[in-house]
Amino acid sequence: MAIYPLRKLPELPIAGLGSQWLEKLEAELEADGDRALLCRRTLCELAYPEFVDNWDTAIKDAKLPLATRLALSALDPRNVTLEPEYYAECDDSRFQRVKPLLWLWYSFDRTVAGGQNVELGVRLRRVLARYIFKRCGENFKAFQNVEFSFGYNLEAGDNVVVHRNVLLDDRGGISLGNNVSISDFANIYSHTHSIVDQRDVTDALTRLDDGVRITYHATVLAGVHVHEQAMVGAMAVATKDVRPYHVYVGIPAKSVRVKPNAPFGQDNVTTVKPR
Ligand SMILES: CC(C)(COP(=O)(O)OP(=O)(O)OC[C@H]1O[C@@H](n2cnc3c(N)ncnc32)[C@H](O)[C@@H]1OP(=O)(O)O)[C@@H](O)C(=O)NCCC(=O)NCCS
Repeated sequence: MAIYPLRKLPELPIAGLGSQWLEKLEAELEADGDRALLCRRTLCELAYPEFVDNWDTAIKDAKLPLATRLALSALDPRNVTLEPEYYAECDDSRFQRVKPLLWLWYSFDRTVAGGQNVELGVRLRRVLARYIFKRCGENFKAFQNVEFSFGYNLEAGDNVVVHRNVLLDDRGGISLGNNVSISDFANIYSHTHSIVDQRDVTDALTRLDDGVRITYHATVLAGVHVHEQAMVGAMAVATKDVRPYHVYVGIPAKSVRVKPNAPFGQDNVTTVKPR
């Protein structure tokens, strides 16, 4: 293995545009106006600029194709439903505050300016996260296609990194410590269903402590506490608490080793029997 720090890229030819756009958006969020309108206008400017000034009349314009009117109407979060709204324990007063920002987050990822555009996408999500999460520390970094349940039930410490296509189901709450990394296609759950009656739901806080790494395609089930500096290997399913500095793999995930940098007294071996 080799140490490969991330490269610094040269400045983009029109880097200023993205910064100006984000500054404007941030100022509008701080002014605390109508978030649904902010979401609608921002998406309209990105995807259908010719309709920005006449959105209200365009959605009623019988001369426009129905599909066009539908696409325009969906720019406004009040015209779409998100799955968590159907959950009985959804706190409407909190969810309706964050819904426009979640819709902006998800929809931006489907635009040309968004999607795989790392520079702008990471910066936009960093701005939005501060207004969606219960708490968001410094340097939050999320790549494309990350999904939440409520969003408002999630706490993130400093330097948290969430890679592409991750599901953060914060229905029962998710707490992420500092320097947590969640790799591509991982799933972190905080709710579960009775095996007898699917409507019988248990919400349980799921905790990933400082320095935890959840690697590719791994799943952490509701209520699991992954202790500091632990690692959950690719494709693993963590069904029970994960001990600090341990590396857990498999289904159900078991410890296969202790990290060599574990502090004295943690476990004085580097390879442990799975349990
Ligand atoms: C968890 C992981 C880091 C373990 O690496 P490691 O400490 O070098 O462990 P080893 O490769 O020595 O494996 C120890 C044992 O666990 C098994 N194992 C390792 N990873 C496994 C996995 N994801 N699922 C099932 N078994 C696994 C190995 O086959 C080996 O079993 P054996 O002793 O019967 O031969 C690695 O396998 C992994 O999943 N990496 C994911 C990729 C990654 O690094 N992601 C980080 C992105 S941010």
